[in-house]
Amino acid sequence: MGARVNRLLDTPAAALDAYRAAGGYRALDELQKGTRTPRSLQADVASAGLRGRGGAWFPLTRKWQVALENPGPRVVIANGAEDEPGSRKDRHLMAHSPHLVLDGALLSAAALGADTVRLYVNEHAPAAVAALQGALAEATAAGLTHGVDITIVRAPATYVAGEDSAATEFLASGVAQPRTKPPYPAAEGLDGRPTVVSNVETLAHLALVGRDGPALYRSFGTESCPGTMLITIPEECVAPGVYEVVIGTYLDTVLANNGKGFVAGPARGVQVGGPASGWLTDLHVALDPDSVAAAGSTLGCGALRVLAKDHCAVDAVVSTSEFFNREQCGKCPPCRMATQFIHRATLAVLDGKGQVAQLDTAPTLIAQIRPATDCSLPGFPLAPLTTARTVFADDFATHLAGGQCGLVHRRRSLRIEGT
Ligand SMILES: Cc1cc2nc3c(=O)[nH]c(=O)nc-3n(C[C@H](O)[C@H](O)[C@H](O)COP(=O)(O)O)c2cc1C
Ligand code: SF4
Repeated sequence: MGARVNRLLDTPAAALDAYRAAGGYRALDELQKGTRTPRSLQADVASAGLRGRGGAWFPLTRKWQVALENPGPRVVIANGAEDEPGSRKDRHLMAHSPHLVLDGALLSAAALGADTVRLYVNEHAPAAVAALQGALAEATAAGLTHGVDITIVRAPATYVAGEDSAATEFLASGVAQPRTKPPYPAAEGLDGRPTVVSNVETLAHLALVGRDGPALYRSFGTESCPGTMLITIPEECVAPGVYEVVIGTYLDTVLANNGKGFVAGPARGVQVGGPASGWLTDLHVALDPDSVAAAGSTLGCGALRVLAKDHCAVDAVVSTSEFFNREQCGKCPPCRMATQFIHRATLAVLDGKGQVAQLDTAPTLIAQIRPATDCSLPGFPLAPLTTARTVFADDFATHLAGGQCGLVHRRRSLRIEGT
């Protein structure tokens, strides 16, 4: 771990001259001059094994492949909507390294022969918007956006606005609600055109692959998931903030080295992938998608959430179920019903009036309604609930028996950043 790991955050990418001097936009220059082909970029990205950083860790080249199988003109959306509670990595990246994101978005467009790029940025992230505006003006003056219709669009500050089909719907109609799938946006997105939606961090990694080539990119991270990732460490740690870590670094190492430990002594548990991820109590787990899955959780977007040593797990689960119930967009009646059911069932447990049978019903209910919903949000309250029931079984037992656990009940809602 002695190696320099800040591949994204140490790249001087706030101003064009410094970014170009560090090798930025070189791959784009070559593609524009015809000394490099889109096919060679596609091959490099495939051998780099670049996987998306928006939460699902889906390989970028597979999305490109679907878009390329469908007739153009194609569209690229850089997803900087970031509304995951506790996540600040995307706005940090856009604000500090706008040319990296822009370079990656233009490279994705070049790989796809896309003529339209939309930088879709959370409306409550003014520093990110301003930095991208400055970078876009510099890049346009330098001729780097030639032949591409590229604009910045402010994304509504709602959780579902970051879902890929909601992004395409918002750009088309002004309403940020997910659309029935299939067809997926990569096949048929904005105005019916193949649309590749990528998280802004994914695009920044794409810029690194374009600049450095796959071998150097692969020298960081794991075999199945190369590179680094951005994580957000919360205020329960001594040094909260956004950090870049090599994929595969152990969570306890990250909490000690980056987070500088917990403010209030050893934590009871951690969610590593935002509020929809399962609770982990053994913190010696490697931060790569496969290891975190094997440990019973999901790596998601690396937004860490800490259950402090005096905090009741039922209370933490209620704040999660309340969040998803509040943020479901109202389009699909089964989602409204299911998220409300889980919220009420968990709240009843917290208040000492809950029923174990209702908690037991939740997974079946979600499995039944999921085919009739337009996005995966209704399933999001499940993992925090089911894992907490296992690893914090005593908290649930006490509350289900109508007693008081003696731990802190904050009854605090999860908030979206900036709201
Ligand atoms: C309810 C919901 C909200 C989402 N919000 C975001 C978001 O804010 N940012 C993001 O990049 N992806 C978000 N996603 C995932 C996107 O749909 C999409 O998978 C992602 O932007 C693809 O980027 P990637 O392939 O680079 O990971 C969300 C998904 C769901 C279901
Ligand atoms: S599943 Fe829920 S959040 Fe997703 S589109 Fe339907 S109502 Fe909206």
